[in-house]
Amino acid sequence: MKLKDKAAIVTGAGQGIGRAIALELAGEGAKVCVADLNPETAKKTAAEIKAMGMQAIAVTADITDLSQCEKMVQATIAEFGCVDVIVNNVGWDKMEPFIKSEPTTWDKVIAINLRGPINCFKAVLPVMIERKYGRIVSIASDAGRVGSSGEAVYSGAKGGIIAFSKTVAREVARYGITINCVSPGPTDTPLFAAVAGDNPAIAEGLKKAIPLRRLAQPEDIAGAVAFFASDKASYVTGQVLSVSGGLNMV
Ligand SMILES: NC(=O)c1ccc[n+]([C@@H]2O[C@H](COP(=O)([O-])OP(=O)(O)OC[C@H]3O[C@@H](n4cnc5c(N)ncnc54)[C@H](O)[C@@H]3O)[C@@H](O)[C@H]2O)c1
Repeated sequence: MKLKDKAAIVTGAGQGIGRAIALELAGEGAKVCVADLNPETAKKTAAEIKAMGMQAIAVTADITDLSQCEKMVQATIAEFGCVDVIVNNVGWDKMEPFIKSEPTTWDKVIAINLRGPINCFKAVLPVMIERKYGRIVSIASDAGRVGSSGEAVYSGAKGGIIAFSKTVAREVARYGITINCVSPGPTDTPLFAAVAGDNPAIAEGLKKAIPLRRLAQPEDIAGAVAFFASDKASYVTGQVLSVSGGLNMV
């Protein structure tokens, strides 16, 4: 097991990619803080982990609020004694042409996709610096690397978290902390269903464009996260791994 006895926080772990990451890390031996805005889904994922015979707690936290991120970190330390790993997974988007989008939507997209992970970094880094150990993995998006029509502000926020992660990775490497991003392509989750709406042509068109001829499943993303979170990746920092079925080869 790659993560035996490590304590990990996964944000947005109530459903979709975050849930798959939480289960994957638990399967690799980690004790998991399942954090989500939605207390019911957080409890459900934590129960799934406990059913595997592993340790988990469910914590309700809105990552757009720094004080709630600090409480999430404290709750993890109270339960597991430390935080070795945090996966910044929460994200949200509304697909629309930029010229039709409104500032209220921009604010929400930036708060969830950029400010939220920044809050999490701020809350967890003092703990990791003191212990001289940490693994931070942020879920970006290929939209943030190569752009994506209808997702302009989201792409900007995801590109922002990539640049932010690289800079902090440089600043804290001396404390034994690595920081990397996993960058999914289109992935079959509730968010994708909401963004693609009732239009099956979007998923069908994407499947034709993706060399591996299918959307990602959440588990495809989780495996890459487990690698960055483990000591197999202890000499890897400031990197971005695209998990997109070959859709983007840059
Ligand atoms: N699904 C895709 O096609 C796709 C593609 C590229 C990147 N991503 C990224 O992957 C990550 C996970 O996406 P998903 O598709 O699983 O999304 P999802 O909407 O299915 O799940 C997101 C989870 O985050 C929680 N959440 C939302 N706002 C929150 C907040 N403020 N505080 C705490 N929890 C909050 C939700 O309750 C939900 O459980 C996101 O960062 C997303 O941008 C997804």
